[in-house]
Amino acid sequence: MTALRDLPKLELHLHLEGAAPPAFIRDLAKRKHIDLSRIFDAQGAYAYDGFVDFLRVYEAACTVLTSPQDFHDLTLAVLEQSADQGVIYTEAFLSPDFCGGGDVVAWRDYLAAIEAAATQAEAQLGITMRGCVTCIRHFGSDKARYAARCAQETAGRFITGFGIAGDENMLHPRDFAYAFDAAREVGLGLTAHAGEWGGPDSVRAALQDLRVSRIGHGVRAIEDPVLVDTLAEQGVVLEVCPGSNVALGLYPSLDLHPVDRLRRAGVAVTVSTDDPPFFHTTMTREYQGLADHFGWDAPEFDSLAQTALQAAFCDPETRAAIARKLEAR
Ligand code: ADE
Ligand code: ZN
Repeated sequence: MTALRDLPKLELHLHLEGAAPPAFIRDLAKRKHIDLSRIFDAQGAYAYDGFVDFLRVYEAACTVLTSPQDFHDLTLAVLEQSADQGVIYTEAFLSPDFCGGGDVVAWRDYLAAIEAAATQAEAQLGITMRGCVTCIRHFGSDKARYAARCAQETAGRFITGFGIAGDENMLHPRDFAYAFDAAREVGLGLTAHAGEWGGPDSVRAALQDLRVSRIGHGVRAIEDPVLVDTLAEQGVVLEVCPGSNVALGLYPSLDLHPVDRLRRAGVAVTVSTDDPPFFHTTMTREYQGLADHFGWDAPEFDSLAQTALQAAFCDPETRAAIARKLEAR
């Protein structure tokens, strides 16, 4: 089989800020005279202790991203990183909360900068990016409405989805139904983080109250065989991030991760990195882990790419262009 790194990959679950190389954040902090030393370890990697602390470090890193130019440079750095791992299509979570604080006018400027970088990366590196506007659960439902407003105002060829990330143990999906209804109205694809820090009920609530076609993570559905069957029958797509789940302590090792059991049960699974530098991972490392621990090979990796292609929130022309690239490799 082709070297894992060279396999053409599609990634549906990547937080733009969470993909920031630590050196990129450190450099911006230095230039802006912001002291961020507390969020790095002695080796210069992001340092956190568990999920809630991870969110704190993530948000601290975001404080240095204060202008559209910062997001332009970040987008280029992230897409270079992804293209280097064989990624040909990526959907990135973009948060208006970190791009102008939810103000639609500011958001347009940030988004224009991100899209300009994506266009440049596509021309130079052959990687296609689409954006999924994302609200942050623990920031509350009012901010989610602002995020949805930003999504409504900018939905189109580049902004193709709406989602929710953040602390799954805060509030309830029904508190965000208004925001998701607004996003659905303008034709955006919908995804919600669930079944990561919450169990099967959390996945059920996201499906019922937010009517999403994809679930971010969703792996704890494995705790309820009836829910696993429902996901398989309804074709709900899971954006599984094994390395993230192990790094954050959800599973003690990849051997105990349910991704292979979910796939064997007929659930549509895709694989992503979530916040790669935080978890010391890349798409190639994710693939390598699946090959080493579960014996995944060309058929499984082909099927991952095809599932992601069908589940991507892009327009038909983009999907067809990515399909042609997959066939050509
Ligand atoms: N934001 C960034 N990464 C996240 C994760 N793994 N879960 C919830 N929110 C996030
Ligand atoms: Zn995520």
